Amino acid sequence: MNEKKSGARSKQTLQTLQTRRIQIPRKISFTPKQASLDLEWVHGNAEETSFPEASFDLVTASLLFHETPPIAAKSILRECYRLLIPGGEVLILDGNQKTLRQVDWLSDIFEEPYIKNYAVGSVDAWMGAAGFEAVQTEDWWWVHQITKGIKPIAARDSAALVYQTSASARFENLGAEGTPVPVF
Ligand SMILES: C[S@@+](CC[C@H](N)C(=O)[O-])C[C@H]1O[C@@H](n2cnc3c(N)ncnc32)[C@H](O)[C@@H]1O
Repeated sequence: MNEKKSGARSKQTLQTLQTRRIQIPRKISFTPKQASLDLEWVHGNAEETSFPEASFDLVTASLLFHETPPIAAKSILRECYRLLIPGGEVLILDGNQKTLRQVDWLSDIFEEPYIKNYAVGSVDAWMGAAGFEAVQTEDWWWVHQITKGIKPIAARDSAALVYQTSASARFENLGAEGTPVPVF
């Protein structure tokens, strides 16, 4: 789910509701050990985690919101906000809501009970309602979108600086710095 805020080598925590067993997806072509990642796997509801307030500087969710009712997605975003330090970043990868609205058969093939509710919603708006600033969504190919937002910090002038040096900007240096990848 996120990157903890302090320490030379920070930790990644991954939380899911998956009930059978927590598995590393086959698409990951390296093991956490090979990548020198310090991973902690947690089973639980992302709407209400047991992690302390302001304990992460990055929270991500991948392909989660099209599976939840919008009310749960909004509640997860509020939990992301609570978990982040001021200036911390949330990153949400999921189905492209614009495309899903335009192409009905695409929603139908996934057979997810809430996908049409997800499609008519707006992750941008949900993020804004949770209190995030600098919210923006970009298309990722045709079927996906990535939405990011920043938890505001008190000093208004430093917001732009934080945005530039934010976690997603460091995302490309994952291997080099051992920067943790958080996932819901
Ligand atoms: C489509 S899978 C995506 C899995 C993984 N994040 C990925 O990108 O491959 C959606 C996952 O979200 C989990 N999930 C659904 N609702 C959840 C919730 N409220 N809290 C935590 N996990 C949840 C499901 O158990 C499922 O494992």
